[in-house]
Amino acid sequence: MARTLAACYPLRMRRVVAVAVVALSLSCSSTKTTTPPDPFQGPLQLAKVTDLNPDPHVVEVNLEATYAEWEISPGQSVHAMTYNGSVPGPLIEAHVGDTLIVHFTNHLTEPTTIHWHGVRVPAAMDGSPMAQAPVQPGGSFAYQFTLTDAGTFWYHPHADEPVQMEHGMYGAIVVRGDSEPVMDAEGVVMLDDLTLGPDGQIASPAGAIEDHTGREGAVSLLNGRMGVAIPIRSGQRQRWRLVNAGSARFYRLAIPGVTFTVLGTDGGFLAQPYDTGELFMVPGDRLDVVVTATGAPGSSATLQNLPYDRGHGGGSPTTMDLATLTYDGESMNGAAIPASLGRTIDPISTAGATTRTIIFDEVINPDTGDTTFTINGKSYPDVPTFDAHVGRTEVWDVQNKSGMDHPFHLHGFFFQVIGASGAPLSWEDSIQLKAKSTLRIAFTPDDRQGMWMYHCHILEHVKSGMMADFRLTK
Ligand code: C2O
Ligand code: CU
Repeated sequence: MARTLAACYPLRMRRVVAVAVVALSLSCSSTKTTTPPDPFQGPLQLAKVTDLNPDPHVVEVNLEATYAEWEISPGQSVHAMTYNGSVPGPLIEAHVGDTLIVHFTNHLTEPTTIHWHGVRVPAAMDGSPMAQAPVQPGGSFAYQFTLTDAGTFWYHPHADEPVQMEHGMYGAIVVRGDSEPVMDAEGVVMLDDLTLGPDGQIASPAGAIEDHTGREGAVSLLNGRMGVAIPIRSGQRQRWRLVNAGSARFYRLAIPGVTFTVLGTDGGFLAQPYDTGELFMVPGDRLDVVVTATGAPGSSATLQNLPYDRGHGGGSPTTMDLATLTYDGESMNGAAIPASLGRTIDPISTAGATTRTIIFDEVINPDTGDTTFTINGKSYPDVPTFDAHVGRTEVWDVQNKSGMDHPFHLHGFFFQVIGASGAPLSWEDSIQLKAKSTLRIAFTPDDRQGMWMYHCHILEHVKSGMMADFRLTK
């Protein structure tokens, strides 16, 4: 860290970095190389998991679900559930084509699993309730699969999600491709929030209203820390791999004076980058963006979450401050953003596809006031399944009849949104399904037969059964 920073930042900057709460891990490279800058250096870095396997094409790691103290700001800790004692869990970094082997042990007093959100794993490795019996306290399980796609993914439990994920069980997976644009610095940005009780600890689930709208905590976290300061230089281009790990928060991110250039989404790169002043992220979402900094040396800027109304009282009514960008050091000429990302995304042909209607809705019990969240009229595990077939394109009209938005997530496959006006063609696994609207998606399943899930990624809605599955067969 010291050496890297010494090469990149003037002395004053190094002192600031040493004292700042910098959870975003950064490094910089003064010369362009063909290898990406090591993005995860820094005093408060996303620590990388230890790769135990000497084979350069195999990443073999231990992950342990453990109780630990989680320092959300200096001197302020909460009781947490973690992977390997840290929040976020250790970063898993690999190259496309690598095999990932995870020896998982559950040291919690409740069952859990690991789901590899966005990774195209075999069905048996998916960690969903369909894929495996939860790992019992004291038990273990070995996950093994090939990382077939470059991109930003994440891992989290698929058991008691509103509690386990709220308590800190999530981590990032970065899979690098062969030729990726090298920016001046790079980091992972995992966004989350917490609700603390009067005792200063993470509050237990709060009951009917929270079950309905989903938990949006007043404490904003970036890489598991409050009030993060991110060092940046004027002119610098930082690549941020963003993950929305929150329970129910929808982010509309903006930084006054900063332009974001979107390189990729859930399923990796777009064909061409595009510029925007605002990033929208539903729970589960990832975005790969370049932040172009234009502030004057010595100034600062705020990473904001802009107001958003997602229906039924959910959303952020006012602008929230998430982190501070501190401009220090000399201004610099930033790395060039390539005009093309070397990827072609062809629209999926829907000729001969199987078309289905999937209805997300809610039913309010007039006696109790409780809401039942449904897919096709039922709650998991009672939602009827259907068979999809290897190589045969599926087109789903996903309808939201309810009065609130739901983040739609499909396990195991990337889909395209059909007929989205203005949006560039992309591969997605988590996407906004607005209240009272329909989204048409298409995907062509490859040969990974088995049971696959799709659900709303608001964790309270997962818990209450807005979740379903289908069978992929020959
Ligand atoms: Cu993050 Cu079932 O998913
Ligand atoms: Cu939902």
